[in-house]
Amino acid sequence: MKVNPFITSGYISKKYFCDRKKEIASLQTYMRNGVNTTLVSPRRMGKTGLIHRAFEDLKDFGCVYVDIMPTRSIEDFNRLLSEAIFHKFPEKTSIGKKFWEFLRGFRPLISYDSITGQPQIEISYQMESQKPQTLKSILQFLNAQDKKIIVAIDEFQQITTYPEKNMEAILRSEIQTLNNINFIFCGSKRSVMYDMFSNAKRPFYQSTSFLSLEKIDRKEYAKFIVKQFNKSNITISKVCVDFILDWTKNYTFYTQYICNKLFSYSEKEITLKMVTHACRETLAEQATTFNQLRQLLTTAQWNYLIAIAKEGKITQPTAQNFLMKYKIGTPSNSKRLLKTLCEKDIILEQISLKETTYEIYDMFLYHWLLDNYDVI
Ligand SMILES: Nc1ncnc2c1ncn2[C@@H]1O[C@H](COP(=O)(O)OP(=O)(O)OP(=O)(O)O)[C@@H](O)[C@H]1O
Ligand SMILES: [Mg+2]
Repeated sequence: MKVNPFITSGYISKKYFCDRKKEIASLQTYMRNGVNTTLVSPRRMGKTGLIHRAFEDLKDFGCVYVDIMPTRSIEDFNRLLSEAIFHKFPEKTSIGKKFWEFLRGFRPLISYDSITGQPQIEISYQMESQKPQTLKSILQFLNAQDKKIIVAIDEFQQITTYPEKNMEAILRSEIQTLNNINFIFCGSKRSVMYDMFSNAKRPFYQSTSFLSLEKIDRKEYAKFIVKQFNKSNITISKVCVDFILDWTKNYTFYTQYICNKLFSYSEKEITLKMVTHACRETLAEQATTFNQLRQLLTTAQWNYLIAIAKEGKITQPTAQNFLMKYKIGTPSNSKRLLKTLCEKDIILEQISLKETTYEIYDMFLYHWLLDNYDVI
């Protein structure tokens, strides 16, 4: 079966990856020069993909990737980090063998995932203090290897939710002593990430270089889309490509999704009718999710979302004409609603030197609101 050349989850290889030349080069330069890096962008922009893409060209490093989204504590962190090390250095490799020996000292319970065959590690601790100690030992183990190591920690903001309030301090003080490991700290909660790394009162203050991921260059994305279709002998006109990129505002995940759908139609030529059909079909598929979201929000929050969708984006949430047009109420009402929706990751706040803008980042939700609601 033909692989759909538009990936919508995970990473396969550079063959399916569009552009990001500058960002790949920056990340690689930082890594080759021992500079720890903080990688931030809104959700679904391509951070995780970029890490894997950069790793593909850093073959002389031992690149360990760990997604800590599901972790709730240092204990979970240790477990996922150990599993990620095994994922990178399987049992048969020399580092993998050494890591088994090393872990044995902790008397872990080891099981194997029935689907992936990957080891799953459970360490039982007698005392709380053993948890940070184990974390330090794992990092020191990596640091002692002949190979240079990179550890990418995805969804890094998650550590701020751990019951162990000193996780940041523990990690930071340990990292300072490691000269053979470089770190990539990756996250989408911009305000949390920036505060962690730019607040003078926090342990990680100014300890890394920042890399902020923006949208893929539109021209590059257009070329990529045509090329991916053409490789499978499918033609697509400039008009169709422009429609896709306008509709998704060339936001990575949403562009990939629509192109993936179009490819799945298995036609030799993509027409505008097919593109609009793919967009409509996508919105229909998402309707249940959006109706559920509606149940989770108050009427005022929902109406506020519709208002932002209708405006496209806003820069002045307390402007009289905006408040009046959408019956939002007082300026403080507006600020409160906006704050909650930003915290819920539904509205994206983007701060530049010139202004702060607010918009719905989920392009499917944005279009669905536009299609389903008239101005209130
Ligand atoms: N440069 C690229 N070219 C093609 N596809 C890409 C590119 N970057 C990312 N993608 C695809 O877009 C989707 C979203 O990317 P990714 O998961 O890397 O985003 P993210 O910023 O890590 O999102 P989240 O914040 O939700 O974790 C994925 O399916 C990924 O394969
Ligand atoms: Mg990600």
